[in-house]
Amino acid sequence: MRIQIEGLTFSYGEKRILEDLRLTVESGERVGLLGVSGGGKSTLLKLISGLYEAKTGTISIENAKTAAERRQLVAMVMQNAPLFPTSIRENITCGHPLWEEWLEAACRAAQLSDWLATLPEGPDTFVGERGGRVSGGQAQRIAIARAIAKDAPVILLDEPTSALDGETTGALLTALENLTRGKTVLHVSHRPETLRDCTRVLRLEGGRLYAE
Ligand SMILES: Nc1ncnc2c1ncn2[C@@H]1O[C@H](COP(=O)(O)OP(=O)(O)OP(=O)(O)O)[C@@H](O)[C@H]1O
Ligand SMILES: [Mg+2]
Repeated sequence: MRIQIEGLTFSYGEKRILEDLRLTVESGERVGLLGVSGGGKSTLLKLISGLYEAKTGTISIENAKTAAERRQLVAMVMQNAPLFPTSIRENITCGHPLWEEWLEAACRAAQLSDWLATLPEGPDTFVGERGGRVSGGQAQRIAIARAIAKDAPVILLDEPTSALDGETTGALLTALENLTRGKTVLHVSHRPETLRDCTRVLRLEGGRLYAE
């Protein structure tokens, strides 16, 4: 599905973050997004996903224009998002009824199955307060399984490979490939080398986007 943004201006209080920004991402395209820390990349993803409402400008995904409509069409893997203090299962389904086979398929695609098989309680294992009982890589793959289970046409990735050791990077990259295959993707990263599979890379600077 196509993402189209026009005249998007956004501030936190007095602090202007995005300035008359425009962007078109064609259906099935994979666009990388770079930019300095604090430049507004996460803010842009939160606006597209419908987490925040833009007061100035339009953001549409095909014909969906309101934040509530866009939320249905987008799955986002957030930067350093903590898990909910509940089971792995609940962290993936977010309380929505989910067919068991569908959950298992999402766990397989997110490269969680081998680890889950070693846990006596499997997907019903408690992740701890703020996900304290799982590693950073496992938490990231649980977040990816949640996005896979949603099966949304638009995928927004916010630094999904940050803070990872070499051992889990392979599993994480495979999980991300499974999540994004055939979808419209916007991938935020600090590291250009993680954006090699993107059709084009943009840089967010001074509230606007520029071709890299
Ligand atoms: N909820 C908020 N309320 C007020 N200011 C915020 C809020 N979220 C972010 N900011 C500020 O807005 C600016 C942009 O933040 P944002 O998180 O979008 O940047 P970013 O490009 O994602 O940075 P990074 O690369 O470090 O993740 C920063 O100066 C930040 O401090
Ligand atoms: Mg960010």
